[in-house]
Amino acid sequence: MDLATQKKWDKAAPTFDLMAGKGAEERWEPFKRELFSTMQGNVLFLALGTGLDIPFFPTGQTIQAIDISPAMLEQARDRVANYDGEINVSVMDVHNLDFEDNSFDQIFTSCTFCSVPDPVNGLKSLKRVLKPGGELLMFEHTGSRYYPFKLMMDLMTLVSRRIGPDMNRPTVDNVRAAGFDITEVNHIFLDVVKTIRATKPVT
Ligand SMILES: C[S@@+](CC[C@H](N)C(=O)[O-])C[C@H]1O[C@@H](n2cnc3c(N)ncnc32)[C@H](O)[C@@H]1O
Repeated sequence: MDLATQKKWDKAAPTFDLMAGKGAEERWEPFKRELFSTMQGNVLFLALGTGLDIPFFPTGQTIQAIDISPAMLEQARDRVANYDGEINVSVMDVHNLDFEDNSFDQIFTSCTFCSVPDPVNGLKSLKRVLKPGGELLMFEHTGSRYYPFKLMMDLMTLVSRRIGPDMNRPTVDNVRAAGFDITEVNHIFLDVVKTIRATKPVT
């Protein structure tokens, strides 16, 4: 377990919903809903955080949800209880997943690979537990390809990484480097956010 990362997010937990901002969640809602609407089969969700994504999940699913921070998951408790379906929550580090190889049909991530300390190895770890041909579906903050926003996000990251996420990660490249096949990238809000769909090769 990466205790430094766990401590950082435990510290962020009490004010996370306030910092995440209602406005951003409202703007992102249609894109998250569309991505999550494809949920089916045996699903792993990384990272649940305070559960802000839960109201956008389709009902009736059985979801294994993990996060490195017990304090973030504690904040998610009511949202988990109110979900019309089943969410099984565990404290787990993506770099050290306690699941068998080839366990999941789908893995979802939401604003997570801006935070995971070693993203390519974290993604390789997800690939291990995804079934061959299974889908990785991501809603992620990334660096923007547009100049003023790219610079702005590089500058913001100097501060944001001390208390929470990096704002400028090359997540699409990281997904490819981890050995996934990218099937779709949707550039949202001047490319500051992306939805990424990828599959684990069948070989
Ligand atoms: C920016 S928050 C996003 C939470 C939630 N998905 C949302 O959008 O509201 C990032 C989350 O990633 C979790 N996290 C960071 N590193 C992790 C790791 N190595 N393994 C599992 N979870 C991790 C943090 O605890 C935190 O809850």
